[in-house]
Amino acid sequence: MSRLIAELDAALEARAGKGLVRHRRVVDSPQGARLCADGREILHFGSNDYLGLASDSRVVAAAQQGAARYGVGAGASHLVSGHFQPHELLERELAAWVAPCTNACALLFSTGYMANLGVVTALVGREDAVFGDRLNHACLNDAALLSRAEFIRYAHANVGELAARLATSRARVKLICTDAVFSMDGDLAPLPRLLELADAHDAWLVVDDAHGFGVLGDGPDAGRGTLAHFGLASERIVYMGTLGKAAGVAGAFVAAHPSVIETLLQTARSYIYTTASPPLLAGALATSLDLVRSDIARRERLFARISRWRDSAPVLRWPLLPSTTPIQPLIIGDAAEALGVSDALWERGIWVPAIRPPTVPAGSARLRITLSAAHSDADVDRLVAALTVIGAGPPPRRAAR
Ligand SMILES: Cc1ncc(COP(=O)(O)O)c(C=O)c1O
Repeated sequence: MSRLIAELDAALEARAGKGLVRHRRVVDSPQGARLCADGREILHFGSNDYLGLASDSRVVAAAQQGAARYGVGAGASHLVSGHFQPHELLERELAAWVAPCTNACALLFSTGYMANLGVVTALVGREDAVFGDRLNHACLNDAALLSRAEFIRYAHANVGELAARLATSRARVKLICTDAVFSMDGDLAPLPRLLELADAHDAWLVVDDAHGFGVLGDGPDAGRGTLAHFGLASERIVYMGTLGKAAGVAGAFVAAHPSVIETLLQTARSYIYTTASPPLLAGALATSLDLVRSDIARRERLFARISRWRDSAPVLRWPLLPSTTPIQPLIIGDAAEALGVSDALWERGIWVPAIRPPTVPAGSARLRITLSAAHSDADVDRLVAALTVIGAGPPPRRAAR
């Protein structure tokens, strides 16, 4: 065996020894509260399909109509010949709805990961600085590193530390970036304070609303996301929303001042040098966004399930993080124990993925429980009952290989 392969195998073995190996289960049914995974029926609390739109019959029908009209592939990047009418209409609709500033425009990306890479690398470079929350999603961190700007990470939600770092920075352009709803914790970033700091230091504020778009906002703003939740708008906000989570389909968009969007269109490499997403997805998204806005009962169901879970979870053995969003993590601590609890749930017909370092800080392995409008009260009660039984026994651990 070559030295190169032997080194990989040794690193994989070391990872296994720490209980950090990742495995995939194979799903063979539509996304939903109940799935067929690894050949068995399972109650599922592990997806970001918060509104249950991923398998809604109207969204599926829109995708089928899009396929019939446009085929299944865009054939080229947006700037070559892959920009279709459904893409164009969706961008206009998203810009007008999310409206992070007056006259905002929007640009579609194939994924949220690519959108974040595109935004940060287009707005800052070597002489500049990126300020990011320590619990930001990996793709914002990767974007900061790729931009070659100085990368300054501040303690989670610590606006005092951020203010101090901004005040001493000599960077030509400053960019603050944050998850709006933190993906592994479910809490909200202090966006009003971050915008004040961005104003005070003439900085960009990049808001990654992967988990707030479609979920947060009330009344006429239902689902418009975290900016609506806080009532914020500004020309210095660059808003990124993903379309594969609450919106139930795939992709992402950036909404911002027209000059920002034109800059992305001209220079964002993760926009320019990749094939456009299939137009049938943009057609499906038009339908799913209509449902996000009009089907108020769906969001009410989601928030009723969150309340029910939060009312019951304090009796459990493990602490629950203080989240008001569909992301409801139960902190187990040890990675092998988190896997053990996840396995014990699986044996009882319930799928909750264990999230371990490096996705979360060492010592804070957790069950990332996500709730959806597709769950029933009885589903939530079943999860609580199973966790109560598992928690009453000796700590389950998946033995490290
Ligand atoms: C906060 C956050 N940002 C960005 C992304 C990436 O989005 P996508 O899955 O569309 O690439 C995710 C998803 O995993 C996320 O949780």
